[in-house]
Amino acid sequence: MAIIGLMKASVIVTGASSGIGRAAAQALVEADYDVLLVGRREAGLRETSGASPIAVCDVSDFSACCRAVEQARELWRDSHPVLVNSAGAAAFGPFHETPVEQIEEQVKVNLLGTMFMCRAVLPWMLEAGGGQIINVLSIASTHVFPGGSAYGASKAGALMFTRILAAEYRGQGIRVTALMPGSTATPLWEGQAFQPDRADMLSAEAVAGAIVDLVKSPKDRNVDELLLMPPKGVL
Ligand SMILES: NC(=O)c1ccc[n+]([C@@H]2O[C@H](COP(=O)([O-])OP(=O)(O)OC[C@H]3O[C@@H](n4cnc5c(N)ncnc54)[C@H](OP(=O)(O)O)[C@@H]3O)[C@@H](O)[C@H]2O)c1
Repeated sequence: MAIIGLMKASVIVTGASSGIGRAAAQALVEADYDVLLVGRREAGLRETSGASPIAVCDVSDFSACCRAVEQARELWRDSHPVLVNSAGAAAFGPFHETPVEQIEEQVKVNLLGTMFMCRAVLPWMLEAGGGQIINVLSIASTHVFPGGSAYGASKAGALMFTRILAAEYRGQGIRVTALMPGSTATPLWEGQAFQPDRADMLSAEAVAGAIVDLVKSPKDRNVDELLLMPPKGVL
């Protein structure tokens, strides 16, 4: 059990069944944090860490988000709550050809899901006298990628949401970070029309390392925004 200040810290990680969320959850478990793995695919969550509790949850369903947070709260009532929102959906291609369902899914998961998880966890954080939220956004929150309209719009919306949340709750001991990685080699890229060279991308472990650093960082500072890019920059 890792300790932040004098309080034990527990971490809820969404998107923990794959990619960045999986690598972050594994690195946090390795660093001795209690971690609740959140995602829709139970088998994927179990593969991430057999020893950690799981919550099968669609983050676009607010009731399911509340149940996941309640599960963590029951397990680790007296801890310092941390939320890492890594669940995400991406479908790249010309906007006029994008199925409406894919537009809807990206907005639902990337924007609404992030908001729903934050909405579900904040009452616990306020009651605990503090907490930390790390929203995994993207370089696409600020950079224009043709073919990534629904993705970029959802991530830009999530960035503004994250900035407002940081301002709204910073006086109450809640640290909020917008983490914006560049291209990262994960299953997100499988089947996409646009494929940068994987060898040029960040590894999921590199992004996970940044997440662990943020969780470990002393409470006397807040990283409001972190743009983490592969050495070659925008790919
Ligand atoms: N890969 C990149 O280049 C890159 C760059 C910058 C930012 N990001 C962001 O990083 C985050 C993680 O992406 P990744 O690259 O690790 O992708 P990934 O490997 O495809 O993982 C996506 C994760 O999101 C979960 N998820 C999707 N829809 C969900 C829903 N409705 N409810 C709950 N969980 C859901 C998936 O789990 P289930 O299928 O089990 O639900 C999976 O664990 C995303 O927010 C992505 O936008 C990625």
